[in-house]
Amino acid sequence: MPQYPTALQNPIFRTIFKASKNLNLESYVIGGYVRDFLLKRGDAKDIDIVAVGSGIDLAEEVSKLLPGKPKVSVFKTYGTAMLKSGGIELEFVGARKESYSEESRNPAVENGTLEDDQNRRDFTINALALSLSDENFGELLDPFNGIEDLQKKIIRTPLDPNITYSDDPLRMLRAIRFATQLDFIIEKESLEAITRNAERIKIISKERIVDELNKILLSDVPSKGFALLHKTGLLPFILPELIALQGIDEKEGQTHKDNFWHTLEVVDNISKATDDLWLRWAALLHDIGKAPTKRFDKKLGWTFHAHEFVGAKMVYKLFKRLKMPLNEKMKFVQKMVLMSSRPIVLASEVTDSAVRRLIFDAGENVEDLMTLCEADITTKNPKKFKKYHANFQLVRDKIVEVEERDQVRNFQPPVTGEEIMETFNLKPSREIGIIKDAIKEAILEGEIPNEYEAAKEFMLKKAAEIGLKTVN
Ligand code: CTP
Repeated sequence: MPQYPTALQNPIFRTIFKASKNLNLESYVIGGYVRDFLLKRGDAKDIDIVAVGSGIDLAEEVSKLLPGKPKVSVFKTYGTAMLKSGGIELEFVGARKESYSEESRNPAVENGTLEDDQNRRDFTINALALSLSDENFGELLDPFNGIEDLQKKIIRTPLDPNITYSDDPLRMLRAIRFATQLDFIIEKESLEAITRNAERIKIISKERIVDELNKILLSDVPSKGFALLHKTGLLPFILPELIALQGIDEKEGQTHKDNFWHTLEVVDNISKATDDLWLRWAALLHDIGKAPTKRFDKKLGWTFHAHEFVGAKMVYKLFKRLKMPLNEKMKFVQKMVLMSSRPIVLASEVTDSAVRRLIFDAGENVEDLMTLCEADITTKNPKKFKKYHANFQLVRDKIVEVEERDQVRNFQPPVTGEEIMETFNLKPSREIGIIKDAIKEAILEGEIPNEYEAAKEFMLKKAAEIGLKTVN
């Protein structure tokens, strides 16, 4: 059996070894830590330990041996315990045999051997165990040939996939997430079982689903995961808004692009430019308003009138349904969706005032918006591709130039409401709003610079026009 003592160099493993010896039980490192070590994905900060015996007792014993005796959190119902030491989170569980019920993910648990425990795990690559016991410290226990699957880049279940997935339907999403994250292939039987069991994803909590979606979105090539969610029939249960974008209609010889596959291209494009999860969400959702707004017009052809506005409203409903945060992250995604066509229109004619308005409206998110819109260029025509990107560069340059001069990104009115009130001896009233708005418009249009003196002069002129007199 292969030995991997180098995986266990962290002194914490010696401590677990000693604690196991004190309690006279076998223990193993299992799951993600072993997998990621063998894939050279860097040291994981979460380490799963399985004890043939009580995981809770082992955790308590490990804590006793550690400096400062870190607190052990015990989850009695699951028979697990957790403690943190030196930036590492250790999770202890007793080896078990499990059978799940049809209705929920909560299993009926019985004590078992290491092999029973490996059997109930999701994938062969996650069932690899390294021994922390005296007689074979560092030995790899791999009853399902997970190591070969790691080399061949295959996601496979230890048991019949129908059992593994119906035991815990979240694993269907985990399979797709690992395939995307690690660039692995899901073996045929598994893929078929996922497709057959897709509907069972309904019993999984929204939080767990979103956790997996986020990990797919944060992968190098997220489209791989979304294409698999589509292929297996999981997507309609999770993001029906995306499925609604699929397909190409034809009327009077006119077609439109398939907005589902287009969206996936945009997500891959943006993932080359940013690791920001929420900007990636914005890319995923930027066109969702196109399904409900699609119309055919004899003169205009296919239109998606106001799809950005409708899409932004749909973002709220989608976040709410998936129990995602309804905070500034959601507002950011909404704003990106709402503004997602602005720079494209601009790119054909880059005027100063249009750029000023873009900066004013997008505010601190103007670069993110540019990143999103540049990712939206998916034309297969190389001439157009080059032209659009060149235009984007022009807009980006112009943004820097205009912002340097006019500073409208965090626009503060150069003349305040108080000053207007004092100058014309006014109480708070409609006139003040009118004057303030006129000053802002004049700045955005480039009629006056964004400066106090010019704004004050403009204010006096505007006030005279609407019949206001100064106090002195
Ligand atoms: N596991 C499982 N079925 C699940 C979740 C987890 O069988 N639905 C098992 C796997 O053996 C897995 C281990 O529990 O390796 C730890 O799970 P978790 O920490 O969620 O995942 P990791 O594999 O560590 O990977 P990651 O940290 O990337 O999520």
